[in-house]
Amino acid sequence: MKVTIRDVARRAGVGVATVSRVLNGTGYVKAETRERVLAAAAELGYVPSQLARGLVRRLSGTVGLVVPDITNPFFPLITRGVEDAASEAGYTVFLCNTDNDPVLEAQDVRKLREHRVDGIIFVGTTERRELVDQLLADDIPVVVMDRQLEHADVDTVTVDNVAGAQAACRHLIELGHRRIAHAAGHQSTRTGQDRCQGYRMALEEADIPYDPACVTWGDFTFESGFRVGQVLLGLSPRPTAVFAGNDLIALGVIRAAEEAGLSVPDDLSVVGFDNIQMAALVRPGLTTVRQPAREMGRLAMTMLLERIRGEFSGPGRRHVYPPELIVRGTTRRREPLG
Ligand code: RIB
Repeated sequence: MKVTIRDVARRAGVGVATVSRVLNGTGYVKAETRERVLAAAAELGYVPSQLARGLVRRLSGTVGLVVPDITNPFFPLITRGVEDAASEAGYTVFLCNTDNDPVLEAQDVRKLREHRVDGIIFVGTTERRELVDQLLADDIPVVVMDRQLEHADVDTVTVDNVAGAQAACRHLIELGHRRIAHAAGHQSTRTGQDRCQGYRMALEEADIPYDPACVTWGDFTFESGFRVGQVLLGLSPRPTAVFAGNDLIALGVIRAAEEAGLSVPDDLSVVGFDNIQMAALVRPGLTTVRQPAREMGRLAMTMLLERIRGEFSGPGRRHVYPPELIVRGTTRRREPLG
């Protein structure tokens, strides 16, 4: 006789709606109830085809979120979006901060696996594929965010970093700047490289010769922006504008300019990337490129749930958000010399 969802509900001592929530991974269900329902379904052999994978894997109702730097306000925004979608689905998120350290990163992924998470949202310290390849080989769903792994068959959620950087630099060029420097982020990330490429493309289309001295790499922090800013402001001739690899770098460059007795935007225009909340709060407000971080986090979690529930099992999907330039007070027209 065919086992029905009602049989499972009766065996587990819960309502049909609860069984459906557990099996579909939607809505909140207490961990103990979830276990009872899964056990009852397994005992009765209730394995509808689209759910077979979930039952065989014994879903834990938890996922991991691995980020490189939780002190960068961009990542709490991502986390917020992941949490939004996770809690709607009754899921709990384990957050791991790797401090941009590949060793810690590998340890974090191992710990998440020991906790039997159902899937992982991953923002790597580098573009290395090994960890992600290993997870996929072991049938653990993964969504990569804010990074792009070449040739890896994995879902990714990013903004168009090249287009965003181009928009930022075109804005500076339209304001009459020609000596534009780039305070770049982490060279080991595709994110950093793409933003540098967008910078170079914008210069090229405006026939501005590329000067390698005008690009200094660091990491995606305020401290790095301060250090790199000091180097770039020491160039001769001094740049009149800086495109920063993210908002924290931009704030560091602005601090370096202030300490050198320069005014932003009168002596130096600065553009960031991300549109963290602070960008609108500082004075002058930071001109920047917005990425919809919270929405990106929500989408990454939604895509992960589709994999976990077996609703999607095709090849890696790539979702690239369009960037948006937000003009505030740190950029202004460059008056022609003489
Ligand atoms: O990953 C570091 C940086 O990349 C963040 O600040 C944000 O800009 C992201 O896109």
